[in-house]
Amino acid sequence: MGGWQASGPGYPIALGFFQPSRKGDAMPEEMPEVLISEDEIHQKVEELARRISADYRDVDDLILVGVLKGSFIFLADLARHLTIPRSVDFMALSTYGDHTETDGAVRMIMDLRRNIAGQHVLIVEDIVDTGYTLAYLVRTLAARQPASLKTCVLVHKPDRREVYAQIDYLGFEIPDEWVVGCGLDWAEKYRTLPYIGVVKPEE
Ligand code: PRP
Repeated sequence: MGGWQASGPGYPIALGFFQPSRKGDAMPEEMPEVLISEDEIHQKVEELARRISADYRDVDDLILVGVLKGSFIFLADLARHLTIPRSVDFMALSTYGDHTETDGAVRMIMDLRRNIAGQHVLIVEDIVDTGYTLAYLVRTLAARQPASLKTCVLVHKPDRREVYAQIDYLGFEIPDEWVVGCGLDWAEKYRTLPYIGVVKPEE
């Protein structure tokens, strides 16, 4: 680890055991550089909500499935801008491996509370990186025979994609940078930033 030390609420002790969740590099100290501004995100959420509301205008209840933790902010924003009947449910997933790279092995650690058979379902994700998580979700939920199953993703990194994953509604395509904010974290930090920023690991 480099010079970064945890302090303040949520980080009460020194970080002898604490590692960033996906990259082993030291935590940068400066605030992340803006890649997508709060205003751009707000406009995009409104646009996506308009499209989804129009596409599902005849549906009694659209179930928004959020994937913890990353999706919670995007899902909350999107859900509040929809003008159709909707409800919310969550899943939690985990990836096997050393947490430095997604190796494709995804497992469920919390399932939906609802039975989605015969229901209209929209998976809401913060990011598609390698694509393994979304591919797993679509495969898993499709097997439960919903009336329809689509996906809505805030950001997609096409340069990192390893497997096909269905994206029906997309916010932004972004370059292969480590991004944070709007639910995206760096070792649990920066998730609640209102913009999407880039962090650079200190080598
Ligand atoms: C992130 C993100 C997606 C997944 C995408 O979750 O929220 O679910 O990675 O990566 P992939 O396309 O390579 O599969 P993460 O495992 O970081 O957990 P978190 O949502 O709790 O931050």
